Amino acid sequence: PKEIMKGENRVALTPQSATILQKMGYECLVESGAGLPARFSDNDYEKAGVKVVKTAASLWKQANIIIKVRAPQSVEVKRFTDNQILISFIWPAQNSDMLKSLADRGVSVLAMDMVPRISRAQKMDALSSMANIAGYRGVIEASNNFGRFFTGQITAAGKVPPAKVLVIGAGVAGLAAIGAAQSMGAIVRAFDVRPEVAEQIESMGAEFLFLDFSEDASGDGGYAAPSSPEFREKQLECFRGQAKDVDIVITTALIPGMDAPKLWLEDMVYSMKPGSIIVDLAAERGGNCDLTQPEKKIESDNGVVIIGYTDYPSRMATQASTLYSNNVRHMLEDLSPNRDGKAFINMEDDVIRGAVVTHKNEIT
Ligand code: NAI
Repeated sequence: PKEIMKGENRVALTPQSATILQKMGYECLVESGAGLPARFSDNDYEKAGVKVVKTAASLWKQANIIIKVRAPQSVEVKRFTDNQILISFIWPAQNSDMLKSLADRGVSVLAMDMVPRISRAQKMDALSSMANIAGYRGVIEASNNFGRFFTGQITAAGKVPPAKVLVIGAGVAGLAAIGAAQSMGAIVRAFDVRPEVAEQIESMGAEFLFLDFSEDASGDGGYAAPSSPEFREKQLECFRGQAKDVDIVITTALIPGMDAPKLWLEDMVYSMKPGSIIVDLAAERGGNCDLTQPEKKIESDNGVVIIGYTDYPSRMATQASTLYSNNVRHMLEDLSPNRDGKAFINMEDDVIRGAVVTHKNEIT
């Protein structure tokens, strides 16, 4: 279906992934116009053998499996009937009413955001695909608002110093941001509470900011746990020193199930140079910077631009749809090992089990 959430440009099926799904025995349908915001026309789908259906209502009536990007809104939930399968982002812990309605309707729901982050499931890891895009696009937004080059230059008209970029949080988005800023020629520094990422940061040519304090805030599954107050103080002291020096700060720090930790405080914003940029990729969860306003770009009284957009993947809808659609297609491959166009929800399979959030009228 066409995504109905305002401003959502992605689509869950691309002509390319439809071609592969058909080889797996599936017949593919798309709602007319669903791909247009991501630059895939009805004609592109038709050429790939996809049936273009006029309305969402008719699509839901014909399909056994619905693949989407955004969790269904109530008008979409009402369209589901018994035994249909839904694959999309769901965020089950935050959407319990929707989950219950889907379970009551007998829908089997696989949440792309619940795919376990183990090696075997990397090809289905849509969180990583989208975080990668967010990190890259965050750097592009920063450079678009920054009044100088990223790279240093010596020109006839004068010497230009390189921009200094600080990346806070070096998970998937942070590492993508380091890569993008580095490739544009900036001096890149990065910090994370998980000490094991120091090597990853350094291998990308960036500098890891070590604290004179020993604490490992690694949590379960490669994620972070909250830091102790003493560690946090050390961290803030380090950032205060950096604030006066860096031109661009990209923050990505998140702890599962919690509001984003506040790490770039008001006084740090006010000690930055005019024209500096903060891109807060944690804006959706409240932001890492005190002054971030989610979904907005604002400017502080001292001329620091603070970007709190929350829709980076949708701003690169062609790329995001291509990767997301590949992730979904890999999930369908796991669901149909016999390549016979039939999905089998095998609750013994760790990856499938992890992603299934409703099955046989139960919330699982
Ligand atoms: P995330 O989006 O939850 O967090 C982003 C980063 O913020 C993390 O690196 C975290 O350590 C950091 N952070 C949290 N609090 C912080 C603080 N106070 N100061 C500085 N940094 C802070 O995590 P993401 O990016 O989704 O994944 C994190 C890790 O999970 C990866 O680096 C990897 O180790 C693991 N992972 C494994 C995968 C696999 O094996 N298939 C796939 C994806 C991730």
